[in-house]
Amino acid sequence: MALVDTKKMFEMAYKNGYAVGAFNVNNMEITQGIISAIAEEKAPLILQISRGAREYASMSYLRAIIDVAVEENPDIPIAMHLDHGDTYETCKQCVDDGFTSVMIDGSHHSFEENIKITKQVVEYAHAHKVVVEAELGQLGGIEEDVVGVDDVAAHLTDPDQAVEFIERTGVDSLAVAIGTSHGAYKFKTEPKLAIDVIEKIQKLMPGYPLVMHGSSSVLKEFKDLINKYGGQMPDAMGVPEDAITEAVKMAICKVNIDTDLRMALTAKIRQVFAEKPGEFDPRKYLGPGREAIKAMVKHKLHVLNCAGKAAECL
Ligand code: G3H
Ligand code: 13P
Ligand code: ZN
Repeated sequence: MALVDTKKMFEMAYKNGYAVGAFNVNNMEITQGIISAIAEEKAPLILQISRGAREYASMSYLRAIIDVAVEENPDIPIAMHLDHGDTYETCKQCVDDGFTSVMIDGSHHSFEENIKITKQVVEYAHAHKVVVEAELGQLGGIEEDVVGVDDVAAHLTDPDQAVEFIERTGVDSLAVAIGTSHGAYKFKTEPKLAIDVIEKIQKLMPGYPLVMHGSSSVLKEFKDLINKYGGQMPDAMGVPEDAITEAVKMAICKVNIDTDLRMALTAKIRQVFAEKPGEFDPRKYLGPGREAIKAMVKHKLHVLNCAGKAAECL
C-alpha cells in the first residue's frame, strides 16, 4: 500500500483513546528499528523528517528507505511527515516531494503572522491532498535547529486562541505547548505538564486532534548505560510515561519521539565500544543500536496504546 495521510489515524486514535507514535528518522538503522517494532506490534505509524534530517541524509535517501518500509509492510498505514517546517517554501517543497503530512511551525511568530503563514500552507497542501499540522504556544528547551523558551509557563497554548487559530486557518491538527520541551533536559526538578490545556481545548473543540511534541521519556535504562560508559547526561529528564498514557486518552492523537531513539542508539554504541575496544565493524555497533531502538519502540507503542491498531486505521 502507498503512504497514507493522518486523517483516518487521528479519527480512530481520538475515538479509541490512543495516539500514533511519530518517530524521527535520520538514517537506515533508526528507520529499520522503528519499522520492525511496528511490524511486530501492528501499529499505525508516522515517520517524520526534520530539516536537519533532510540536510544530513538527503531527501532522496530517506525517501528510498521509507519506500522500502512501505512496500514491505502493506498491512501497516504509514504517513511521511515534515517535522517543524519553518517556511512556506519548505512545506511546499515537501508537498511536492510526496510527503503526506507537513508541519508548519509558526509558533515563534506573532499570532496573526502564525495564522497567515499556516493558512498559506494549508491552502497549498489541501489542494494537493496533504494534511497540515501547526503549532501554537512555545515549547521550552533548545535542540539544535529548534529553539524554545526559558519561561515555559508563560508560553503555554491559550485554549481560546487555539479555537480561533484552528477556525481561521483550517489546519488539520495542532501541536500544543503544555510544558514539554525538545531534547533530554526537559525539567530541572519535578516533571510538570499542563494537562488542563488539553482538557480545555477538548471541551471547546470536541473531536479535534492535538499533537504533543517533546514527548521522550529519557528512559532510565539508556541514561544509565550512557553515563556508565563514558557519557555525561546525569541531569537528563523526560516526560513520565504515565502522563503520556493519560494524555493519549484525551485529545492527544500524535506523540513525537526523537530523543529516546537517539539515546537508545547512543547507549548501545557506547556499551559496545566500552566492552569491545577493538571493535571497528559498524555492523557490530549499529546492529545492537538498531535492536535497542526496536525494543524501545515496541514498549512505546504500548505506552501510546496504539499496538494492534493498524488495521482500523487503514
Ligand atoms: O523537534 C526536533 C526533533 O528532535 C528534530 O531534531 O532538527 O535535530 O533533527 P533535529
Ligand atoms: P523529543 O526531543 O522529546 O524526542 O521530541 C521530539 C519532537 O518533538 C520532534 O518534533
Ligand atoms: Zn517537535
